[in-house]
Amino acid sequence: MKEELIIVLDFGGQYNQLIARRVRDLNVYCEVMSYKNPIEKIKEKNPKGIIFTGGPNSVYLENSPSIGKEIFEAGIPILGICYGSQLMAHILGGKVSPAPSREYGRTDTYFDTNSALFKNIENNSVTWMSHTDYIEALPDGFVCSAHSESCPVAAMENKQKKLYAVQFHPEVMHTEKGQEILSNYLYDVCGCTGSWSMKNYAKTAINEIRQRVGDGKVLLALSGGVDSSVLAALLSKAVGNRLSCIFVDHGLMRKNECDEIEEAFKNWEINFIRVNAKDRFLKRLQGISDPEKKRKIIGEEFIRVFEEEAKKIGSVDFLAQGTIYPDVIESGAGDAAVIKSHHNVGGLPDYVDFKEIIEPLRLLFKDEVRKLGSELGLAEYLVWRQPFPGPGLAIRIIGEITEDKISILQDADYIFRDEIANAGLDKKINQYFAVLTSMRSVGVMGDARTYDYTLALRGVETTDFMTAEFAEIPYEILSKVSTRIVNEVGHINRVVYDITSKPPATIEWE
Ligand code: XMP
Repeated sequence: MKEELIIVLDFGGQYNQLIARRVRDLNVYCEVMSYKNPIEKIKEKNPKGIIFTGGPNSVYLENSPSIGKEIFEAGIPILGICYGSQLMAHILGGKVSPAPSREYGRTDTYFDTNSALFKNIENNSVTWMSHTDYIEALPDGFVCSAHSESCPVAAMENKQKKLYAVQFHPEVMHTEKGQEILSNYLYDVCGCTGSWSMKNYAKTAINEIRQRVGDGKVLLALSGGVDSSVLAALLSKAVGNRLSCIFVDHGLMRKNECDEIEEAFKNWEINFIRVNAKDRFLKRLQGISDPEKKRKIIGEEFIRVFEEEAKKIGSVDFLAQGTIYPDVIESGAGDAAVIKSHHNVGGLPDYVDFKEIIEPLRLLFKDEVRKLGSELGLAEYLVWRQPFPGPGLAIRIIGEITEDKISILQDADYIFRDEIANAGLDKKINQYFAVLTSMRSVGVMGDARTYDYTLALRGVETTDFMTAEFAEIPYEILSKVSTRIVNEVGHINRVVYDITSKPPATIEWE
C-alpha cells in the first residue's frame, strides 16, 4: 500500500500505541517500529517523518536504548517526545541531567508560537509531564521553543534540519493542545496531506485482496465479534461468495444473538454457514463445573465442528484471520506474523486444509476496524459489539451448565443490556453482563416463600481489559434492572452488583 508514512520509533515508552493512534486520528498512516531496527531499514521505508517515543531509562546510562547519529542527517523531520527529546539532545551534543525537581502531571507551559510546532495555539496552556531528567543545555544549532516553571527546555528545535523535541506528552489527553501540536508536526513540518481514511483503506484493501486471492477460495471462522465480522464484510466485497464463513452456534451465546448475526449477514454475498451445535456442546459439558475444563471442552468441540464443516467445503486456498495491529505490535513491532487463536485454543490452522493465511486487518487499530465496518455498511450492532468470551455463557454460569440455567441467564442478561442501552451508557461502559451464581437463598414473592438463585451484574470501564474499574452505574438504573429481572425472569430472587475492580478480581467470574 503506497501511503505517506510516519514511523513511530519505539524506545520502550508506555504510550507508543497511543502516539500511533493519535497520528492515525489525524488521517496520516503510521507504523510502530523498534529502535533496534537498522537505520537503513527505516530509511528504506521512505517515511515523511519519524517520532521518537518516550522510554523508561536515562539517556546517559550505559545500555540505554539509543540510535546512530546518522538518523539526524537523513533529512527526515524528527519529533522527539520525552525520552526521545532527551535522546536527541544527548546524541547531538547537548546536556541531559537529573532535574532538580521531578515534574509529573498537568503543567503550565509557555510556547513560542513562532515555532511551526506551536503555530495557531495560545502561548500558554497545560501539558502532561512525566520526567526525572531534563535538557540542561541545548545542542548546537537548536533554540528553546517552550518552557515551564521547572523545565527550562520543555521544547527545542533546529528548524533548518527539521528536528523538533518536546519534553511533555502531546499524545496524552491531558495535554490541552496536544492534537494541534501533532497536527502541526504532521502537516506543517512533514508536509503530509492526510490521505489515510477508512474509505481509502477499504478501496485499497479490496483491490489488494482481489489481486492476492485471484479466483481462489477463502475460509473464515466467524464468531460475530467485531474483528471477524468486519473481516467478513471486507472479504465479501472483495471475493463475494468465494468466501465461506463458518459460524458455530454452541448454544451459549446471548439471547437472540445467533439470529441477529445470521440476519446481519443474510444479505451479504458470502457463503454463510451456520452450524447449530448446541446439543453436542451441552452433552459434552454435562456435569462439568470446573471453569478451565469448560473452556477446554468448548475449545476442542469448536475445532471438531469447524473441521467437519471445512471438510464439506473441501480444500481452500486461504484461511482468513482477524489479526489486528495491537497483536502485531505486541508480537515484536511489526516483524512477526501472528496467528490468533480462537476461543483460547491455538492451532486452528493445523486442522484445516488451506495453503496460505491472509490477515487484511493487521494494520488497523480497534477503533479503525469499527470505522471500517461502518464504512462497509455493517450493522451498527456488530460494529459496536462489546467483547464476548469465546466460551460464552458457559463461564458466566457458575457450576454445572443446564439448558434451564442458560435460558434464565439469557433473559436476565438481556434486560440488563436493554436498560443500559436505554440509559445511553452502552458505549461508555466497556463490558457489562449478568452472571448466574450457584448460590440460592430465601426470598418472598407475594405471600410465598421462594428459594432461588442470586444473579450478579457486572459492568467495567477499561481501555485494555488487563486492568478495569467497576462502572459506577447510577442506583436508579440498577434498581430498575433488579426489579425487572426479579419480575420478568423466573428463579431469581436476589440481584447483586459486583463492585470489585481488576485486580484483585477478574472481569469474568470464571
Ligand atoms: P478476565 O476475566 O480475564 O477477562 O479479566 C479479560 C477479558 O477477556 C475476556 N475473556 C475471554 N475471552 N475466551 C475469550 O475469548 C475466554 O476464555 C475468556 N475469558 C475471559 C473477558 O470477557 C474480558 O473481556
